[in-house]
Amino acid sequence: MLLSRLTLHQFRNYQHLELSFDTPLTLLQGQNAQGKTNLLEAIFMLATSKAVHAGQEREIVGWRADEEPIPYCRIAGGVHQDGRQLELEVLLTQRGDVYTKQVKINGTARRALDLVGLLRAVLFLPADIQLVDGGPGERRHYLDVALCQLDRGYCRALAAFQQVLQQRNSLLKRLREQAANPAAPAVDAQLAFWDEKLAQHGAAIVVRRQAFLQELAPLAAERHRELSGQREALSLHYLPSFNPGGLSDAEFERARDGLWLPPPCALDPAGVNAAYLRKLASRRSREVAAGVTLYGPQRDDLRFEANGRDLRTYGSRGQQRSAALALKLAEVQVMAAAGSAPLLLLDDVMSELDAARRSTLLAVLDDVPQAILTTTDWEDFSPTFRARAHCFHVASGIVTSTR
Ligand SMILES: Nc1ncnc2c1ncn2[C@@H]1O[C@H](COP(=O)(O)OP(=O)(O)OP(=O)(O)O)[C@@H](O)[C@H]1O
Ligand SMILES: [Mg+2]
Repeated sequence: MLLSRLTLHQFRNYQHLELSFDTPLTLLQGQNAQGKTNLLEAIFMLATSKAVHAGQEREIVGWRADEEPIPYCRIAGGVHQDGRQLELEVLLTQRGDVYTKQVKINGTARRALDLVGLLRAVLFLPADIQLVDGGPGERRHYLDVALCQLDRGYCRALAAFQQVLQQRNSLLKRLREQAANPAAPAVDAQLAFWDEKLAQHGAAIVVRRQAFLQELAPLAAERHRELSGQREALSLHYLPSFNPGGLSDAEFERARDGLWLPPPCALDPAGVNAAYLRKLASRRSREVAAGVTLYGPQRDDLRFEANGRDLRTYGSRGQQRSAALALKLAEVQVMAAAGSAPLLLLDDVMSELDAARRSTLLAVLDDVPQAILTTTDWEDFSPTFRARAHCFHVASGIVTSTR
């Protein structure tokens, strides 16, 4: 088992919760608005250090935390990974008007970065369809969460990139306000300094995203074939915002527009770094005029196609839902291949799937060490399945075993 115990304090509608997991399968049943999603969200936050919806982190603090002398929100869990027993903790404490986040590993304060990857988890939500029909930000967020769990180096590069991007953007904004001439030596030198750093970290991100997509795409296609009863071929494309190399600019444009499928190729960081720097240098006046960085991983996207058609534009709800599901199932396989199959968190996903899709989804449960599922209706699961799982009932933030 990966997660053996969970403790919550003032996390959303849980004022206090102590829960032990003693079987690989856990099934939580409850009516609407009782805390099923909240519980999975808490576990996912323990895995990734971040709230599921990137909005305001303070939203997760229980509304009644204010009634306590020292308001705080705490998620803690006993985690078993690679033969080690770990105690992970995410704590939000109120200082004046703001909540500050603290991460602890075995009782010692650590950086959020250090937590990520210690409990690997994949979360399936009904809202996953937004990965296909939503904006590019959703897809980048997905890539970042998945890759940070898989690769510590990615997580570090991402944090560094975001810092540099912020600095570079405020410089560009200042230059725009001053109506600066980007060709002036002083402006050029200032930008060149940030370009170097941006390209260094940005290249690491692009290389890793491309490699991840290359691993993910064939697996997702396989899962999607099963989900669609062999009727559809899913292809998944990584769309970087500049040509990272390996293709001519014309080929890159055609691939971006979905007119051509480039063969798989591995990118080398030095080449991507150089390509990124060239792009920045050639678009300097444009960026100064815009007052913001226009190229780089913060503008990347993914495209999902079924039988050659863009699913965002042409996909039915069912097709979009299957593609999102196939993507996450493939992610589980990539993590397993990397040596640690994740904890699966399946939030109310059964109700939206037909019988064939349900069995494809449930088959993945045999490939992971632990899964926690939620449902509003026990009948969504067979008696055999329920007998295998430890079943709990959730009502108003209180979880009781049905045993
Ligand atoms: N910060 C918070 N403090 C207290 N309660 C909150 C907080 N944030 C959300 N809630 C409440 O938690 C309740 C349970 O939400 P949750 O999304 O977990 O329900 P659910 O059991 O998954 O329901 P559904 O079956 O509709 O998906 C909601 O009524 C919501 O208003
Ligand atoms: Mg829910």
